[in-house]
Amino acid sequence: MSEKRKLVWKEDEYSVGNAEMDEQHKLIFTIINELFANESSKSKMEVLTELIDYSNVHFSSEEDMLNDTSYAERFDHALLHDEYNKRLVYFLDHIDDIDIEEIYDYARLWWSSHVLVEDMKYKNN
Ligand SMILES: [Fe+2]
Repeated sequence: MSEKRKLVWKEDEYSVGNAEMDEQHKLIFTIINELFANESSKSKMEVLTELIDYSNVHFSSEEDMLNDTSYAERFDHALLHDEYNKRLVYFLDHIDDIDIEEIYDYARLWWSSHVLVEDMKYKNN
């Protein structure tokens, strides 16, 4: 995979001001890069299942954190997570018909824009 297409977490760019969320986002970026680097013998289904599982672990802690702080947009925010999850489950259901690159591009772009645009909204909440 070319370096240009990797997700690279940088403090000044991606930090949402919460150490736990930052660590989880970093881990998700790493997982996506590793999963799609295609250096393992994992099947497309295994790769995608891992991504879904890790994403859901993170969404649960992020949504708990937003509930604890009574963040006003927490329900809309959780809907965005649900949409992503539905899309990934759709990919999983149609795994034989979908190019892994398409899934990778979706995941990479979704995470980058979700953290930069949506998660940033809770940064100074
Ligand atoms: Fe989020």
